[in-house]
Amino acid sequence: MYVLGINAYHGDAAAALIRDGKLIAAAEEERFNRFKHSAGFPAHAIKYCLEAAGIGPEELDHVGISRDPSAHLHKKILFAATRVASEGIFNQIKDRLGNAAKVRDLKDELARVFGVSKKLLRARFHNVEHHRAHLASCFYVSPFERAALLSIDGFGDFISTMWALGEGNAIEVLGQVEYPHSTGIVYTATTQFLGFPHYGDEGKVMGLAPYGQPRFINEFRDIIRTEENGHFRLNLNYFRHHAEGVEMTWDEGSPAIGRIFSDEYAHLFGPPRTPGEQLSDRERDIAASLQLRLEEVGFHVLNHLHEKTGLTDLGLAGGVAYNSVMNGKILLNTPFKRLFIQPAAGDSGTALGVCYQIYNGLLKHERAEVMTGAYTGPEFTNAEIENALLENKFERYSDEELTKRAAQDIAAGLVVGWFQGRMEFGPRALGNRSIVVDPRRAEMKDVLNDRIKKREPFRPFAPSILEERVGDYFEQTHPAPTMLMVYQIREERRQEIPAVTHVDGSGRLQTVSREVNDRYYQLISDFDALTGVPVVLNTSFNENEPIVCTPREAIECFRKTRMDVLYLGNYAVRRE
Ligand SMILES: [Fe+2]
Repeated sequence: MYVLGINAYHGDAAAALIRDGKLIAAAEEERFNRFKHSAGFPAHAIKYCLEAAGIGPEELDHVGISRDPSAHLHKKILFAATRVASEGIFNQIKDRLGNAAKVRDLKDELARVFGVSKKLLRARFHNVEHHRAHLASCFYVSPFERAALLSIDGFGDFISTMWALGEGNAIEVLGQVEYPHSTGIVYTATTQFLGFPHYGDEGKVMGLAPYGQPRFINEFRDIIRTEENGHFRLNLNYFRHHAEGVEMTWDEGSPAIGRIFSDEYAHLFGPPRTPGEQLSDRERDIAASLQLRLEEVGFHVLNHLHEKTGLTDLGLAGGVAYNSVMNGKILLNTPFKRLFIQPAAGDSGTALGVCYQIYNGLLKHERAEVMTGAYTGPEFTNAEIENALLENKFERYSDEELTKRAAQDIAAGLVVGWFQGRMEFGPRALGNRSIVVDPRRAEMKDVLNDRIKKREPFRPFAPSILEERVGDYFEQTHPAPTMLMVYQIREERRQEIPAVTHVDGSGRLQTVSREVNDRYYQLISDFDALTGVPVVLNTSFNENEPIVCTPREAIECFRKTRMDVLYLGNYAVRRE
């Protein structure tokens, strides 16, 4: 049985395909059409998923989407309920978006993409509510038989937060926070206020936070207030989305969101920062206060969820689950003991959630997949790579030589492109589409920014570490295979790996095991054998664009930037 899941007409459009409950493929549309966070319909990603399975659209049994697909509505009125109209209009919109599903449109679109007649498609079509898709994505592929679940984001289908109990092949929703109250909206609004206007810029503010002091914490406790039973409310004076509406638009490419914060933000903090303007202590302190408040509210919800379920295993999803700083503190601030965060925790992951909500939740099949990595995207054979390399002078290595050579290059201070196996699903490069450098060299941050990444200098770079060595370097040891947890680096180790140690002594680590990524594990082991350090700096393989997908894109990025050497499969190309 084949089930196709789609996230469409929304940022981070994506597709996922499962066969008899086994994950066959999942990928974001941006990797194919090369628009960051691409919205719209994920035609390329769907085609890729079907190709990976070797099937045509007529062989699909079920197709689902993680919200209502009526694009003309979503394009313009994401937040467009009015305060005056409140309940009545709100319910109408909710109905149109949620229940009165335009399943027919999805079928039309799919037939159009494949250039086939609609009659050929025999699949049953489904709409899965946004947060139920998030919850399914972090439970049905988790290692847990029973778990507490939390989905937390901006908004999806007019819900911002939903918590639940997962057991076997069922998910029971226990509570939710509805429009217009949302932690994600507060984070996005404040990110805009701080002069970072792009979709997905929230991570920059998270990176800025440790440079500041949370001296505005009381202001943020007023902006977002906690209530009984895990609930919270916004002080709506600070926001526009509920009153005037905020547009979310996109043409072919990246989504853009209108201003969410109201003039009250300026009364509280002074004028908003203009993008590109010098950062001051005010911005750093606002970021620190926002981050602290997000954590307080997050733990408030999670502690309630633990009380309700009595469980210590937690599945986490939703855009706010990309806040790896908060995630890294969950086990310290709540009774939870184990944590599964689906690698595509944000909206692209709802495509995967849709598949499993249909297969397990709706059709009640036994669970058949535990997602240990994120390697669900396109891969290329050595022959295909060689073909892409023909215009270059290249060398070919055996498996054993390959990782040894690359480890030597890294230890020698070179900037190494590392392109192997299947592309990652979700925002993090996890050793298959990565740029890897020596974490012992403090200057590598500047080298990477200068030559390739051009990121704001305050943003940290992340370490990959051999899983069994985590305790030697970090104060916490729970595995973090998808790079979505930030832990404190042990004080005595910080000097040893300065390029991956953030200003507050933390690191957003990826723990690497042989079972999950054999070749990357071997690379880090070889680096360890040379240097005595089982850690490399891992940043995504891209310039200012989506992560590279194909060998040609990798070669182009290698050429455009001043990377020193590129390892593609078993081949290597060096800068002349
Ligand atoms: Fe979401």
